[in-house]
Amino acid sequence: MAFSININGKQQTVDVEGDTPLLWVIRDHLQLTGTKFGCGMAQCGACTVHLNGQPIRSCVTPISSVTGQQITTIEGLSGAAVAKTHKAVVDAWEEVAVVQCGYCQSGQIMSAVALLSSNPGPSDQEIDQYMNGNICRCATYVRIKQAIKQASGTLVAQNNSTDSPLYYDAFASKGNADKTDTRIGG
Ligand code: FES
Ligand code: FES
Repeated sequence: MAFSININGKQQTVDVEGDTPLLWVIRDHLQLTGTKFGCGMAQCGACTVHLNGQPIRSCVTPISSVTGQQITTIEGLSGAAVAKTHKAVVDAWEEVAVVQCGYCQSGQIMSAVALLSSNPGPSDQEIDQYMNGNICRCATYVRIKQAIKQASGTLVAQNNSTDSPLYYDAFASKGNADKTDTRIGG
């Protein structure tokens, strides 16, 4: 069956069964391999993408449930209206040297961007709670938290000096006609 979905601001049609996980559509049909398969059971966060600005687990999200909505993968963040937040996160990730093997990191960044786009100045507890569902086998948690706090400092400073919105309105600033877009499942 054909499904029309919007990923990273582009309308795409895929011919798959309705219960096909979004993760497989993203990776196998659209070759967007930045999103990773970890557990396949909504337990690790490696497959995190955004649906309408909120992080979800694409491994347990059937393609039939996301038609007409805006999906953003790690490949699309720099072109979305969260680009400023994404840049602050990536810069902090590099400065703090967060990454070890890297496997979990696209999911970590998707969650961090979603957190900071809705709450640019999270408390330590808020960071811990929000990032709790993203597992890192290399245990980079201390550096992830440090980088989120650093990115938060950048964003708060920017927010105080400009009127530019930090909040998620994916692709709206680009005037994209065929929008579509997503929260870490529990
Ligand atoms: S692959 Fe682990 S939560 Fe989706
Ligand atoms: S950096 Fe290796 S799993 Fe997170």
